[in-house]
Amino acid sequence: MNWEAIYTDAKQWVKEAGERIRFSFQQTLTIRTKSNPNDLVTNMDQEIEQFFIGKIREAYPEHKIMGEEGFGDQLADLNGIVWMIDPIDGTMNFVHQQRNFAISLGVYENGSGKIGIIYDVVHDEMYHTVRGHGAYLNAQSIPPLKERTIKESIIALNATWLMENKRINHQLILPLVRDARGTRSYGTAALEMVYVATGRVDAYLSTRLSPWDFAAGAILVEELGGVVTNLRGEKLNLLSKDSLLAAKPGLHQAILKDYLKSGKW
Ligand code: IPD
Ligand code: CA
Ligand code: CA
Repeated sequence: MNWEAIYTDAKQWVKEAGERIRFSFQQTLTIRTKSNPNDLVTNMDQEIEQFFIGKIREAYPEHKIMGEEGFGDQLADLNGIVWMIDPIDGTMNFVHQQRNFAISLGVYENGSGKIGIIYDVVHDEMYHTVRGHGAYLNAQSIPPLKERTIKESIIALNATWLMENKRINHQLILPLVRDARGTRSYGTAALEMVYVATGRVDAYLSTRLSPWDFAAGAILVEELGGVVTNLRGEKLNLLSKDSLLAAKPGLHQAILKDYLKSGKW
């Protein structure tokens, strides 16, 4: 497999998609809701996914595609090469803020991550890696992650999980929030994983994400020595929704053992 060619194509297509999104700021968006009134989708989410699918099908017709907006394949397994696409991660931010969103694209071979690209469109910052060859922010190499204690950590999580909720063991998250140096919430899983990869935050937790939310980010975080699992400490499931804990080495183990162990996630 010519991974170098796939990597070059993928980065080029992500750049082009970013230009389309920036151009859309001058146009009127069509905004609809999906599963609930706060679950937004725009014409751009759909157009960008279709743009990627057109490019991939033309260049690599034997590859499979999983995309959030449903224009890709229905996958029963991860055999072969699978592209995992979130055309706009952080759609609510895209609509309300015109920032704090990203394109997320991960390429897997038989379930193992090969290429991870996350593009912060507004800042023109592309985070990218081919597994085993280092990770980059545009042309600049990103240094490996170092260990960090909880009391010196900034942890990214969603504030709504602190509310009482049958599905979430919120009472286990409270001590973590108390003990950490600080918490942050950005509303985009892809950028929150990039912030772990670059050390801007030390850990990111989510109780429920889809494979396209974490597919690229997991490859980037792991390439830099971070650890990515679900909140039970298990390998992520790329075929269904799962919880997520991405963190610096050492910190990941400490959060699982000292805070999350007794929860049902
Ligand atoms: C969402 C964002 C958000 C996360 C949600 C995702 P979308 O993705 O990543 O931060 O908390 O679970 O669904 O819908 O904007 O692509
Ligand atoms: Ca998403
Ligand atoms: Ca999305």
